[in-house]
Amino acid sequence: MYPVHIDFPDSFETPRLLIRAPRPGDGPSFNAAVRDSWPELRPWLAFAAGDVPSVAESETRMRTAHQSFLARQDLMLLLWLKGSDIIVGSSGLHRIDWQIPRFEIGYWARTNYAGQGYITEAVAGIARFAFDVLGARRLEIRCDRRNERSAAVPRRLGFVHEATLHNNCRHHLTNELGDTLIFARTQPD
Ligand SMILES: CC(C)(COP(=O)(O)OP(=O)(O)OC[C@H]1O[C@@H](n2cnc3c(N)ncnc32)[C@H](O)[C@@H]1OP(=O)(O)O)[C@@H](O)C(=O)NCCC(=O)NCCS
Repeated sequence: MYPVHIDFPDSFETPRLLIRAPRPGDGPSFNAAVRDSWPELRPWLAFAAGDVPSVAESETRMRTAHQSFLARQDLMLLLWLKGSDIIVGSSGLHRIDWQIPRFEIGYWARTNYAGQGYITEAVAGIARFAFDVLGARRLEIRCDRRNERSAAVPRRLGFVHEATLHNNCRHHLTNELGDTLIFARTQPD
């Protein structure tokens, strides 16, 4: 099978959001969202351990993600407030196994737009897209047990807590050992 031959749209909508793959030119909007949120991302996302990226670095990220999306290797998805150039968060379908198909959903919220249900709405829409359009049989969400706001998202959406992997990670800032929670939703053939 050739994943690169699988045709599917690069955008779809939920009530408040346009969810779409990154494109060349998205760098400034993405950078603004990242810049606003860096202190809140830092404790939970290893990529935010360093300095805030420049606009040029964000543009490179968007172009690389665009290529990976087209190659069906990794499906990053930006969360746009409908009818605006405002990104309220980022998500995507990662660690893909097209043979199943299975995907892992990741996410972060832009700080000024957190606590309003945008991430829950986006993940619900992305799960629907994965099951209905991509034919997913398994969706996973993994998070550090200490990240309660993150674990609340799959819990709110009826994902099953399948496992806790004890001592499965070290915190990227403190080096403290931690547990990984695995949530999943599945669909039979
Ligand atoms: C994890 C993270 C994305 C969660 O963001 P969030 O803002 O809590 O998630 P949502 O946008 O779904 O908002 C949920 C909140 O909005 C409320 N809400 C309001 N309207 C809502 C609606 N229509 N639907 C659902 N929830 C709604 C919920 O009650 C909830 O409030 P609460 O936190 O007081 O319980 C965010 O904390 C974050 O970016 N953290 C840093 C990065 C990170 O940890 N990423 C995950 C790594 S595994």
